[in-house]
Amino acid sequence: MAVRLFEGSDHAEAYLKFRVAPQELIGIIMSFMEKRTRNFHLAVDVGCGSGQGTTLLAPFFTEVVGTDVSPAQLQLAPTDGGPSNVSYRQCPAEELPFECEEVDLVTAMTAAHWFDHRRFLHEAYRVLRPGGCLALLSYTMDMELEYGDVSKTLNDICKEFYAALFPYRNPHIGSNSVEIYAGMFHSCPYPDKEWNECLRVRRHVPLSGFIAMVETFSSYRSLKETDPAEAAQLSSRLRNKLLAVMKTSSPDAEVIMIVKYFYWLARKP
Ligand SMILES: C[S@@+](CC[C@H](N)C(=O)[O-])C[C@H]1O[C@@H](n2cnc3c(N)ncnc32)[C@H](O)[C@@H]1O
Repeated sequence: MAVRLFEGSDHAEAYLKFRVAPQELIGIIMSFMEKRTRNFHLAVDVGCGSGQGTTLLAPFFTEVVGTDVSPAQLQLAPTDGGPSNVSYRQCPAEELPFECEEVDLVTAMTAAHWFDHRRFLHEAYRVLRPGGCLALLSYTMDMELEYGDVSKTLNDICKEFYAALFPYRNPHIGSNSVEIYAGMFHSCPYPDKEWNECLRVRRHVPLSGFIAMVETFSSYRSLKETDPAEAAQLSSRLRNKLLAVMKTSSPDAEVIMIVKYFYWLARKP
């Protein structure tokens, strides 16, 4: 069964502003493809949200289509002013509006855990041409921070925050998203496939950007819906504790945020 979240326009806006676009992963996907195919006509980014990852595919393909079930997310995708070969369609991941064997690359970036996994894999298989590739990527919630010589203390504070959100994880994604992707990887019948459990991506961000980013987590949104005051307190406790350890009062102080991606890539025979 698929799950519908990310439907609120405020969530979509925060998502666009604060989530990390996975440039490094696009390089890895393209190098996997370049070793295996000469077809770069059509890429489809499923669960594309506001198109942050979708647009990164534009330089490599004749046409890129982002698909998402959420109109609020798609409304923020850059149709004017974005790359001219990128377009967007509203549809579920399990029913893609493409012909059989029409697509060269299917991606899902931080999205496949929300889909009906079995139906999505069937659909990806249907639309991919022989030799076409499937790339699924996501990251774990336990992002880390680096700041001077207090990184360990900051990360202990972050761990407390993540633990407080844990009970609010949506049951569809269970306690560990890596396991979901590993399960999908093992059930994918393509013999030519690769799994990578941890690629650390570093970004310089203001502390306020890190906090705004963790506030886009679905578990934080779920707590916010259940108990808005508790969610606000949790977030402000996180900010104040981090600032105290960093010995600054400025939420603009720059930290290094480390996002731990995992991904798998496969080539349809
Ligand atoms: C966490 S966001 C990721 C968005 C984007 N790929 C990114 O990396 O920024 C997950 C997206 O998956 C979409 N989604 C969830 N379930 C879906 C489904 N069954 N079919 C299509 N899109 C879905 C949501 O609407 C949301 O935009």
